[in-house]
Amino acid sequence: MILVTGGAGFIGSNFVLDWLAVGDEPIVNLDLLTYAGNLENLSSIDDDPRHTFVRGDIGDSKLVAELLHKYTPRAVINFAAESHVDRSIHSPEDFIQTNVVGTFHFLESVRAYWSALDDQSKSGFRFLHVSTDEVYGTLGDKDPAFTETTPYAPNSPYSASKAASDHLVRAYHHTYGLPVLTTNCSNNYGPYHFPEKLIPLCLLNAMAGKPLPIYGDGQQVRDWLFVKDHCSAIRSVLSDGRVGETYNVGGWNEKANLDVVNTLCEILDKLKPRADGVSYKAQITFVKDRPGHDRRYAIDATKIERELGWKPQETFETGIAKTVAWYLENQPWVSNVVSGEYRQWLNKQYS
Ligand code: NAD
Ligand code: DAU
Repeated sequence: MILVTGGAGFIGSNFVLDWLAVGDEPIVNLDLLTYAGNLENLSSIDDDPRHTFVRGDIGDSKLVAELLHKYTPRAVINFAAESHVDRSIHSPEDFIQTNVVGTFHFLESVRAYWSALDDQSKSGFRFLHVSTDEVYGTLGDKDPAFTETTPYAPNSPYSASKAASDHLVRAYHHTYGLPVLTTNCSNNYGPYHFPEKLIPLCLLNAMAGKPLPIYGDGQQVRDWLFVKDHCSAIRSVLSDGRVGETYNVGGWNEKANLDVVNTLCEILDKLKPRADGVSYKAQITFVKDRPGHDRRYAIDATKIERELGWKPQETFETGIAKTVAWYLENQPWVSNVVSGEYRQWLNKQYS
């Protein structure tokens, strides 16, 4: 079996659902259930004996050691993190605690478990660390896309904390021989995306008749990947990735934020037109920019495509259409997610 962390969050829960849909290997899911973790994402596998959920912290060495000895996973995949850049600007400490200190303790627990395995299990074991393209910093309009050899230059407390965790993972391979793999992925979107992030926030605000907040001039560029394509990339790296290597994951879909929100509005105008017949674009509102806002991210995914034969299945157009349809069809999930804590965040960030 495998152990995943953060499997109740956006990408982790999509990964758990897909893992069980494409194979039969059991999965243990360790998640602290912070504001971003939501067991409702996993309600369709409530009765599936192949999935075991454990609430807990990756930094809780005693708990992690117990889980590793009880379930003897052949691999661990570390999704758990604080993931929202704006929150890292308001409260960086949580990001250092989970992404840096938590990952360190988790690596120590896994190293102790792995060291005691027999030689065959030891060489077959994998520690896959899920990271982000934000560790590479920001690009100018004409710069080539990030490759695996682009120097790290993180600009936000979030990306600095992820960069630190990537360096720790790398060091555990070079120093102790732990068989690690790291993926650095671009912006994901799709089902179960928490509505603090641009795409789900704008979808929910559009339907609620609220402003669609665009930071600064809206010309910042992100490289969008449908979440299920990220999950398939992680499965490819886990099964065929070369130990100690990093793999950039992206969908060759660079878009300016304003274009993304305009596209969302156009899809909604067709699927759920406003009662007054006016386009949702009328709700677009330019607001104060994010401090230190990175201008452009772009992923060169040549290495994973060439070495592992991975390719995204969705274009931005097909993926975003599926995403809008999912949010329209899953209104109960949406209403439950919009909790008291989340409303407080909106007041703090946008008032
Ligand atoms: P998310 O915020 O939706 O989910 C994070 C999950 O981790 C939550 O379920 C939360 O409860 C859990 N968690 C937080 N702290 C924990 C701890 N100390 N112990 C155990 N569980 C804890 O994040 P996401 O968007 O699903 O991102 C998952 C991973 O992928 C992160 O490492 C993130 O940096 C990385 N990533 C995200 C994107 C993206 O666009 N969302 C892109 C590239 C990489
Ligand atoms: O690049 C990968 C990263 O993508 C992941 O590592 C992060 O975990 C994930 O949150 C995401 O980070 P971003 O900061 O790019 O995502 P976010 O959805 O917060 O913002 C996307 C872009 O939209 C960014 O340029 C900021 C802008 N934005 C965001 C919000 C929430 C707005 O213009 N208005 C908003 O209200």
